[in-house]
Amino acid sequence: MMGIIACLVLCHNGNAHPGHLENFQYKTVLADLSLLKMLNIPVLYESQSTGVGYAVITPIMQLRMQEANHRIGRCGSFEALDDETIRNSSPQEILKSLEIVDHQQNALTPFHILVEKNENILAALDEVSADQLKQTVTWFSGFPNRYNQSPEPNKFGEAFIVKLKEMLAASKVPYEIDMISHQNTPQKSIRVRLPGRTRPDEVIVLGGHMDSINSSSWGGTMIAPGADDNASGCANVMETLRIVSQKDQPERTVEFFWYAGEESGLLGSAEIAKAYKAQSKKVIGVLQLDMTLQPGAGEFVLGSMTDFTSASMREYLKQINSIYIGGKIIDDKCGYGCSDHASWHRQGYPAIMPFEATFKTSNSKIHTSSDVISSLSNFNHSAMFAKIAVVMAMDLANSETVFQ
Ligand code: BES
Ligand code: ZN
Repeated sequence: MMGIIACLVLCHNGNAHPGHLENFQYKTVLADLSLLKMLNIPVLYESQSTGVGYAVITPIMQLRMQEANHRIGRCGSFEALDDETIRNSSPQEILKSLEIVDHQQNALTPFHILVEKNENILAALDEVSADQLKQTVTWFSGFPNRYNQSPEPNKFGEAFIVKLKEMLAASKVPYEIDMISHQNTPQKSIRVRLPGRTRPDEVIVLGGHMDSINSSSWGGTMIAPGADDNASGCANVMETLRIVSQKDQPERTVEFFWYAGEESGLLGSAEIAKAYKAQSKKVIGVLQLDMTLQPGAGEFVLGSMTDFTSASMREYLKQINSIYIGGKIIDDKCGYGCSDHASWHRQGYPAIMPFEATFKTSNSKIHTSSDVISSLSNFNHSAMFAKIAVVMAMDLANSETVFQ
């Protein structure tokens, strides 16, 4: 099926949303394994007997590969896979077809990522409740606003922490709960930490911003229910905590964040990510949930933001989706650091941001008094994002997976 490793890129892929992004974002390639490793490009799968790796590369990685090859006087040493091949064959099948000798069972070693179906995770996913999400979003959006520059910027957070403590009273695992003060905003972020059993220094971060804004009325009286932006993501994070705090203690630490001051410039998350970096904390992966309630591109269609995120972690998201969620993922971009994932990304931590729709088809009522639960809201759609977080808390937090 596959030809030799060709010099030229045959075809591009990775842009499932033509029109919006003129230039494609990345390519899925087969490439010389030692070259990929030499250039520190994340290898998603590898075939040791043929010395070929399967990777998703950015245009910059592609340039680095071409430059390295030219330096040693050979051509590209990689082949971009076309959309049809990727659709019709798994990475393992593609690599297998390259193997010349009869391969043994172990010839194909999934390198960084391989999500496998697990009964405990499947059972936990069944517990994700659309009704519970609706209750939480209703409660959040019942506050006049959660604005970080309001006269009482912590009024909401103080009520929320009481709610979290009530919920965690039933926890079966150890936990710590903190309000985090900031330099650049009087609003405090909230963090719940489930310490890892055997590898507490390795941290999985699941978060969303708690604050809301009404960009047309400044000052303390503004109405900013922020149901979609971002009570929805906050409710997903809380629902995940409700479920996983009833399960076995994870091997890695899982941290749940509700960030302060996002709407005023990613203020809370910027300070947190910077402090984590300064303390050399090992953050394995960051999930940002910001707007999950309105399925503008269709029910169970989600956007995966490709800017300020990690390519190998986005591949992990795709595997989670194909094994556990069954939605459709469209790669898209904000075009700027539109939410807290950008704070983590700027500190060098791998992040993903699965989003309610594409950027263009997202909720037009955000930042107004009309960002409320409406006929366009869909809590089953939103539940999909809590499920992604549950898988991260139960799969990633119990695995050896590391992203580039
Ligand atoms: N939830 C939005 C980001 C968003 C909006 C993503 C629409 C995709 C589609 C977020 O809360 C926000 O408003 N961010 C600011 C930027 C931030 C740095 C102040 C924005 O987008 O203007
Ligand atoms: Zn938001």
